[in-house]
Amino acid sequence: MPPISRTLYETPRMTAEPLEAAAARVSAVLLDNGLAAVPTETVYGVCGRASAAEAVGKVFAVKGRPAINPLIVHVADVDTARKLGVLSEAAEALAERFWPGPLTLVVPLADGAAVAPAALAGGTTIALRVPAAPVLRRAAETVGAIVAPSANRSGRVSPTSADAVAEELGGRIDLIVDGGPSPIGVESTVLDMTGPPRLLRPGGLDGAAIEAVIGPLAAGPQAAGGPLRSPGLLSSHYAPRARLRLDVDADGVRPGEAWLAFGAEDGPAEPSRTVRLSPTRDLHEAARNLYAGLRTLDLTGAATIAVSPIPTHGLGAAIRDRLARAAAPRHDDPS
Ligand code: TXA
Ligand code: MG
Repeated sequence: MPPISRTLYETPRMTAEPLEAAAARVSAVLLDNGLAAVPTETVYGVCGRASAAEAVGKVFAVKGRPAINPLIVHVADVDTARKLGVLSEAAEALAERFWPGPLTLVVPLADGAAVAPAALAGGTTIALRVPAAPVLRRAAETVGAIVAPSANRSGRVSPTSADAVAEELGGRIDLIVDGGPSPIGVESTVLDMTGPPRLLRPGGLDGAAIEAVIGPLAAGPQAAGGPLRSPGLLSSHYAPRARLRLDVDADGVRPGEAWLAFGAEDGPAEPSRTVRLSPTRDLHEAARNLYAGLRTLDLTGAATIAVSPIPTHGLGAAIRDRLARAAAPRHDDPS
C-alpha cells in the first residue's frame, strides 16, 4: 500500500458527538476566519465564513481552486437564504419541500448581501443551500452564512469520511470534525433558478422528485455563448489518480485492472482489486460507496479502474455524472 500522506494527523480532529461541543468549536474557528472541515449529509465540506474575504481566500487557496469557480453558501434556514438571494416562486416551493437537504439553488444575488465577492467569483448570482447536517447548520446559526465546497483538493474525489478529508487537506486547515461516513455520498443537486429552472449538477436529490414539485426542468446545457453558469461542472473533476474505463461488463475487465462493480456479478479482477458498490444493486448504497470505492481502488496502485454499467434512473444520474467527469481527459494529460 502506498504511504499515507505524512500530514494525515496534523490537523486536530474531534467527533461530531456531542453536537453542541462540535458546533461551538467549529464556530470559534470560523469566527476567527479559520477553516474547519465538517460532515454534511452529502460529502464533507471545508467551511469558512462567507462574509469574510480572508476566510474565503483561504478556502480557494487550500483547495487549489480556480478563482472563477464560485462556492456554495450554506445557511441555517430559508429566512437567511432570502437575505442573500432572490428566490422565485419555484425556488420558494423547492426550498419549502427540500430544505434542509441535498439541494442547491442558484438565484440572483440580493442587494446588500453580506457575502465576500470572491465567494461568488465576482458574479451576480449566489448558490444557496440549507444543509440537513446538524453541526454545520448549528454553526451557521451562530456565525451566519458559511461557504463549504467539498473538502478535497480541486479536481479530486470528494471526501465522504474524516480520513479522506485528512488525506486531502490534513495540515492545511484548523479542524476536522468526524461525523462518520456521509449518508448520501454524492454532492447536492444544483439547479439554476435564475431563469427557467435548469439542472446544473445532478446530485443527492433525484431530478424526478424536483420535477414532481415544479414541473419539467429545462433540458440540455445553457445557451451557447451565454454566461458560464457553473464553471466547476465542466472540466475533469472528481478524479482519482487511476484512469477510468466506464460501462465495462464483467467479462470486459482486462488483466491488471481494478474493478468497480455495481452488483454481485462474478468478474475476473482479484478480490483485493474489486469494490462492489452495492451487491443488491441499490443506487443509494452505491452512491454512499462511490467515492470511498474510488479511493480504495486508487490505493491498489492499479493504473486503470474498469467500472460496471450504472443504471441511469434515480441517483444513477449523479453517479454516472461523477464517473464521466472522473474519466474525462485531465489537464495534465499529454494530449
Ligand atoms: O453537497 C454539496 O453541495 C457539497 C457540500 C459540502 O455542501 N458542496 C459542494 O461544493 O459540492 P463544491 O464547491 O465542491 O461544488 C459547488 C458547485 C461547483 O460546481 C460550482 O461551480 C457550482 O456549485 N456553483 C457555485 N456557485 C455557483 C453559481 N453562482 N452559479 C453556478 N454554479 C455555481
Ligand atoms: Mg467539489
